[in-house]
Amino acid sequence: MKEILAVSATGLGLIPLIYDVESSCFPGNPWSLESLRNSIVRDGAVCLAAFMDGDVVGYALASCTALLKVAVLPGHREQGIGQSLVRAVTETLGRAGCHEVSLECRASNHAGINMYGSLGFEETGRKKDYYPDTKEDAVLMRLALGG
Ligand SMILES: CC(C)(COP(=O)(O)OP(=O)(O)OC[C@H]1O[C@@H](n2cnc3c(N)ncnc32)[C@H](O)[C@@H]1OP(=O)(O)O)[C@@H](O)C(=O)NCCC(=O)NCCS
Repeated sequence: MKEILAVSATGLGLIPLIYDVESSCFPGNPWSLESLRNSIVRDGAVCLAAFMDGDVVGYALASCTALLKVAVLPGHREQGIGQSLVRAVTETLGRAGCHEVSLECRASNHAGINMYGSLGFEETGRKKDYYPDTKEDAVLMRLALGG
């Protein structure tokens, strides 16, 4: 059974579990526990975790203007969890009065780009050689949040 749960300042106990997902999904360059905590407690931040059988299997983190992170554990991908998380985050931002959300994604990340496209995000440009480790471009995408 799949369940989406909000993580907020009242759910700080989940941050280490979210960090485990972050480390598994971005093995070369995960955000630190401290960076995650700082972003999650920031005013206006939205962080949602996806639970399966009581375990955190994915999470998404956004500010009012930017989708900062989406990650689903490898063994749980391609089951609609990423889509559910992003949809829930953008709905929450829309209800909070945010007008649009943007993001950056590695040009080689076809799963990410396809997922965002399937949710209505549109490419707005590229940043050339943006990522220092691989020198690849960042694809910039944006979604208008309807009222
Ligand atoms: C990107 C990521 C979050 C997708 O999560 P997911 O739960 O597997 O995605 P979903 O099952 O919701 O798939 C949604 C859509 O994404 C696309 N997609 C997902 N996995 C894909 C893959 N391996 N190849 C191509 N497209 C893919 C499809 O369009 C899919 O829609 P469809 O099933 O109707 O075809 C996941 O692959 C991940 O955690 N990757 C590592 C971290 C990362 O890259 N995060 C994004 C940084 S910008």
